[in-house]
Amino acid sequence: MKKSPITLLLALSTLSLASDDRPPITNTSTLPTHFGILLTPSIDPTDIFGPLGVLSALSMYYINSTGKMHLSLLAPTLSHSTTNPPLANLDFGADLVPTLTFDEYEAGASESGPLHVLLVPGGGGARMNVSREIAFVKKVYPSLRYIISVCTGSTLLARAGVLDHRRATTNKKAWAWASSFGNNVSYQGAARWVRDGNVYTGSGVAAAIDTAYAFVGDVYGEEVSRWVADASEYTRWENASFDPFAERWGVV
Ligand SMILES: *[C@@H]1O[C@H](CO)[C@@H](O)[C@H](O)[C@H]1NC(C)=O
Ligand SMILES: *[C@@H]1O[C@H](CO)[C@@H](O)[C@H](O)[C@H]1NC(C)=O
Ligand SMILES: *[C@@H]1O[C@H](CO)[C@@H](O)[C@H](O)[C@H]1NC(C)=O
Ligand SMILES: *[C@@H]1O[C@H](CO)[C@@H](O)[C@H](O)[C@H]1NC(C)=O
Ligand SMILES: *[C@@H]1O[C@H](CO)[C@@H](O)[C@H](O)[C@H]1NC(C)=O
Repeated sequence: MKKSPITLLLALSTLSLASDDRPPITNTSTLPTHFGILLTPSIDPTDIFGPLGVLSALSMYYINSTGKMHLSLLAPTLSHSTTNPPLANLDFGADLVPTLTFDEYEAGASESGPLHVLLVPGGGGARMNVSREIAFVKKVYPSLRYIISVCTGSTLLARAGVLDHRRATTNKKAWAWASSFGNNVSYQGAARWVRDGNVYTGSGVAAAIDTAYAFVGDVYGEEVSRWVADASEYTRWENASFDPFAERWGVV
């Protein structure tokens, strides 16, 4: 019998429902829903869009369990940030538009209320004058549930004092510079990412994605994190201390 397109569509949607084996979020604590990303003038695209892709998939598949998730992009002013590296004659970047200034956030202007999680990406901006960004990290950290840096974003956390007396990691190619900040920070050479309390620090660039999945695993559940990675067709790096880039860049 010839099937009509409607019958086929119905069959397909039934199939996709039947094959939807999403594990439930079993964590009964109140889960974080308001995420912020700190925009410096120049950000590595993977540092920002890698973790954002992970959280975006989580919000899409798990909205019924997490509640609606909110994203704020914070910067000292509303002027645009870019993924273009701050190098002469290089003009290959996408614009990033802040949604909230630090002053607006501090004045309570955030429509989604206080931030629960702040992501601090690295890239060329971390080597520019980021004194206002560092001051914001210092001020906001005590009210956050988690802070996550990736790549050289760790230098902002270190300069804000967030990494003092903690274990942390950072970009392996930029190690000498990036690990020179902070007070008695125990920088881990061979680490894809490090969690110390409510502070996550990721290694360079692509490690941002594994750091985000590790965070999702810890907070929303390991099964959930695995499922989201599968849905995104991403092979996770699950061993935080397996890090060939430490040797590759002469860190260990
Ligand atoms: C549940 O989520 C909270 C944060 O909302 C986190 O601190 C805790 O580790 C999670 N517990 C489990 C068992 O995943
Ligand atoms: C959320 O729940 C509604 C109502 O039960 C359902 O229609 C929808 O498909 C669910 N969304 C997701 C992403 O599971
Ligand atoms: C860095 O920026 C801050 C705030 O805009 C400014 O006060 C300071 O003078 C700048 N520092 C340098 C070294 O340019
Ligand atoms: C530095 O941190 C280590 C733990 O990582 C601690 O054992 C040591 O006492 C600290 N040193 C200072 C001077 O605070
Ligand atoms: C993780 O990687 C480290 C470093 O290569 C290795 O020593 C350890 O056995 C690995 N752990 C697991 C569970 O595979």
